[in-house]
Amino acid sequence: MDFQWLKSYMPGSLYGRAILILLLPVISVLLVVSVVFVQRHFDGVTSQMTTSVSREVRLMLESGLPPEELATSQMAQTLLIQVERVAPEAVPQEDSWQWYDFTGPIVVRELRRFVPRLLSVQLPDDDFVRMYFLYDDGPVQMSLDRRRVSASNPHQLLVNMVVFATLMTMIAYVYLRNQLRPITRLARAAEAFGKGRRVDYRPAGAVEVKAAGQAFVEMRDRIERQIEQRTLMLSGVSHDLRTPLTRLKLGLSMIDADERVDMERDVEDMERLITEFLDFARGAKQGEMEKVDPGVLVTQIVQDAARAGNAVELIRIDGQGPSRDGVMLRRDAVRRAVENLINNAVRYGNTAEVSVQMQPDAIVICVEDDGPGIPEDQRDEALKPFSRLDKSRNQNLGSGVGLGLAIAADIARNHGGAIVLGESERLGGLRAEFQITP
Ligand SMILES: Nc1ncnc2c1ncn2[C@@H]1O[C@H](COP(=O)(O)OP(=O)(O)OP(=O)(O)O)[C@@H](O)[C@H]1O
Ligand SMILES: [Mg+2]
Repeated sequence: MDFQWLKSYMPGSLYGRAILILLLPVISVLLVVSVVFVQRHFDGVTSQMTTSVSREVRLMLESGLPPEELATSQMAQTLLIQVERVAPEAVPQEDSWQWYDFTGPIVVRELRRFVPRLLSVQLPDDDFVRMYFLYDDGPVQMSLDRRRVSASNPHQLLVNMVVFATLMTMIAYVYLRNQLRPITRLARAAEAFGKGRRVDYRPAGAVEVKAAGQAFVEMRDRIERQIEQRTLMLSGVSHDLRTPLTRLKLGLSMIDADERVDMERDVEDMERLITEFLDFARGAKQGEMEKVDPGVLVTQIVQDAARAGNAVELIRIDGQGPSRDGVMLRRDAVRRAVENLINNAVRYGNTAEVSVQMQPDAIVICVEDDGPGIPEDQRDEALKPFSRLDKSRNQNLGSGVGLGLAIAADIARNHGGAIVLGESERLGGLRAEFQITP
């Protein structure tokens, strides 16, 4: 059996499912209890009571007394049955009872079974049973207390059940909410950490949830320690390398030889690499979150890049998105990421086009170029640190380290997003999207 189709009917949220789990048994128990109880108990009791009342009514009918005498007879007084004549037009044709009166039909059924000459039975309310009989000289009405034929107010059982079930469900819901809250809080903390934010979180709740929370806290601490160590190590090494490099440069400037120029270029390359390592090590943690208008920021970046002599253009800014007055992001980090993408575009292609899309829950900064692009199966590779594709192609394009895309991806992840590489439809080269969900 495949229950997959059931899934689409299940509520997705934890609350929804918990409510379902809570309500389903309650409602089923209510239904079963009411059906069984009403069927067995009320049915049985009512028909027993009605049968014995029927016998009393028959006794009266079979006494042979005319209605007037019957009404005042000892028998009527003892059996507590009122007898009176009624006008023929006042006799209802049909049996009737109230819609909520579910023992009514049973009463009528039993009376009809045992009492002869019955015209109709009326159960107008909770208080009386009225029966109409045909005597030779006109119809007669006999009435008796309703409580003699059925247990009183049987629908109150249901009313009580519904009221208490609702009350209990409400109480259960309050408890449940308190149990679920630690889970949603844990989910929120984990989500924030994934986006590079640290929110206050203290493990709480049921033992299992608390254990999961504790595990999360330990994991978060370890990851943070590792990042810190990586930063320390990389920046330590890079920093320490700087001093001997500076000495080397000084030494080189004293030499008077042809190779000097080449060697100096090598040293400069090394210095540049070290700077990039340092940047990478500092990672996406650069800067604090602040309110920034992405449109304005990208406009500035593109202007700066163009001023530096690159063929780059901002072609459009789309959408109102998360309001013009800005979203929370690390300005310098985002600037770096977009600059890296633009640098790649103008390095591997000739011209670059930048566009910004502001959607309600995401910001996409797209950089397209007219270069060779990256084949689909190498895009993941390109995003990794120190990876440079197609070495022969890159050689005469200056020596990159292979960190540009990795740094940009790091920054995007830190803003709850990612770098998505694709093919540019407009220019034919690479289309690099910097997507974030602030
Ligand atoms: N716009 C592009 N068009 C074609 N290939 C690209 C493009 N951007 C990146 N690549 C390929 O992806 C590789 C990784 O890019 P990345 O920016 O990470 O490093 P890099 O540009 O080589 O060095 P760095 O940016 O650190 O100076 C590049 O070596 C290049 O082969
Ligand atoms: Mg690059």
